[in-house]
Amino acid sequence: MRRDTIATGFPVGDRVIAMNRHGMWQELAVVPANRTFPIPDGMSFEEAAALPINYMTAYMMLFEMANLRPGKSVLIHMAAGGVGIAATQLCQTVKDVTIFGTASASKHETISQGGVTHPIDYRTKDYVTEIRKISPKGVDIVLDPLGGSDTQKGFGLLKPLGMLIVFGAANCVTGQKKNLLAMAKTWYNQLTLNTLKLMQTNKAISGFHLGYIRDEELFEGTLVKLLELYQQGKIKPHIDSSYHFEEVADAMKRMHDRQNIGKVILLPEPKKSEEKPESKAEAAENVEKAEAAVSEKKEDAAEEVEAGKD
Ligand SMILES: NC(=O)c1ccc[n+]([C@@H]2O[C@H](COP(=O)([O-])OP(=O)(O)OC[C@H]3O[C@@H](n4cnc5c(N)ncnc54)[C@H](OP(=O)(O)O)[C@@H]3O)[C@@H](O)[C@H]2O)c1
Repeated sequence: MRRDTIATGFPVGDRVIAMNRHGMWQELAVVPANRTFPIPDGMSFEEAAALPINYMTAYMMLFEMANLRPGKSVLIHMAAGGVGIAATQLCQTVKDVTIFGTASASKHETISQGGVTHPIDYRTKDYVTEIRKISPKGVDIVLDPLGGSDTQKGFGLLKPLGMLIVFGAANCVTGQKKNLLAMAKTWYNQLTLNTLKLMQTNKAISGFHLGYIRDEELFEGTLVKLLELYQQGKIKPHIDSSYHFEEVADAMKRMHDRQNIGKVILLPEPKKSEEKPESKAEAAENVEKAEAAVSEKKEDAAEEVEAGKD
């Protein structure tokens, strides 16, 4: 997005990251000046779009809430997703952090290369058993975007003084259509504890939602720190794929089918016509036009020949 605002004092045409809670899937957006941040040199528009939500979420959870320190262990669910990759990279900015990451087996090579110490295929294996085999005492931090029974498992896996952070309820979504049964199951299985139990277990539970961060200083400060980490080469968004606005259904399908590794980006500019695949009707119409043009030229040529004879 290019900044077009007089209030900020930045020249018109500056490349900026612009953030708002909603209404950003459009070519032109109006946002408060303090929600725009200059894009560093060398950062592409795609990277700039991929960075804020994923990295701010991961950063605030790991460093503001869980106080990640050297030698600790972290369980990252959806490790091949946008937030998962961001969390993995941020964990690596701290010395000797062990990362357990759950993901489909086909994504393990990518997440291992990205820094996950122990990738676990949650589809075919019980991740609790796998983690206990490696670390019988469990883990220090669990980042939980799943909810339901996974929150219970995560709490069970925490070491004393460990922290579980709930930041999503992906278990409610099982396919392209709304699944009331999955929602009810997730709700029924959610972790309920009283504060006495928390005290007796020496564990912490926390919730996080970036959309409800109202502290502008915290918000701005975090993004500025992340841009610095990017410039130092310590973090780099992983772009899975980019789609033009008119291809949004394909982009959503890729995510619903859980095909993506990293961030799926929407590009506001329309697809160039030569990139567009022709529909059958358009192709037939174009063939007809071409044939008509050829026969018109033939007729003209024949007329010219006839005229030349005269
Ligand atoms: N609270 C906040 O502020 C905040 C901010 C950003 C995101 N979130 C939440 O964080 C989660 C991750 O977001 P993201 O952008 O990183 O996602 P993403 O990039 O779309 O990653 C999704 C991947 O997670 C895996 N997965 C595992 N269990 C899943 C399930 N039950 N439903 C869907 N996918 C599942 C799938 O990969 P496999 O092939 O490995 O199964 C899927 O491809 C989402 O639930 C989102 O709502 C919360």
